[in-house]
Amino acid sequence: MTTNGREIKLDPVPASVRVARDFVRRALCELGLPGCVDDGVLIVSELVTNAVRAAPQTPCVVVVGIGAGHAVIEVHDGSSALPQRRDPDFVGEHGRGLHVVEALCEGWDCVPSDDGKAVIAVLRPQVRETPREGNAGK
Ligand SMILES: Nc1ncnc2c1ncn2[C@@H]1O[C@H](COP(=O)(O)OP(=O)(O)OP(=O)(O)O)[C@@H](O)[C@H]1O
Ligand SMILES: [Mg+2]
Repeated sequence: MTTNGREIKLDPVPASVRVARDFVRRALCELGLPGCVDDGVLIVSELVTNAVRAAPQTPCVVVVGIGAGHAVIEVHDGSSALPQRRDPDFVGEHGRGLHVVEALCEGWDCVPSDDGKAVIAVLRPQVRETPREGNAGK
C-alpha cells in the first residue's frame, strides 16, 4: 500500500522506457526523494523493458509512491506470465535485468492481478549528500 502515488500509462513500445525514466525522476523529486532517483531510474528501465517485451499488446502502467517510508515503484503489465530470475550467466546477453533490480532495491515482488500482474520494487533509503571536508573552493 503506497501513498501519494503518481501514475503514468505507457504504450508497449521500447520508446516508453525513456518516458518511464523521466517520469520516475520527476515523481521521486516531487515526493522529496531525489536521492532515490539514480536507483529508481535504473530499476524502472529494467522493469518496463521486461513489461513491454512480455505484453506487447497492452499498455504498461508505472506507479511511484511511498510505502512504509520507502519509495516504491510498481510496473503493471498485461501478461500473466511471471518474471523468472535466471541463473547468472556472465557470457549470455540476457538474464541480467532482475539481478540488477535485486542489487539496487531493498526487495521486489510480483503480484498477479485480473488483467496481468505488477512487479513491485521497494527502493533503498535515499542517499544523503554529505559535504566533503577540505579542498573547498580549490
Ligand atoms: N514483466 C514480465 N512478464 C513476464 N515475464 C517476465 C517479466 N519480466 C521478466 N520476465 C521473465 O524473466 C526473465 C528474466 O528477466 P531479466 O530481466 O532478468 O532478463 P531478460 O529480460 O531476459 O534479459 P536482460 O534484462 O538482461 O536484457 C525474462 O527472460 C522473462 O522470461
Ligand atoms: Mg530484462
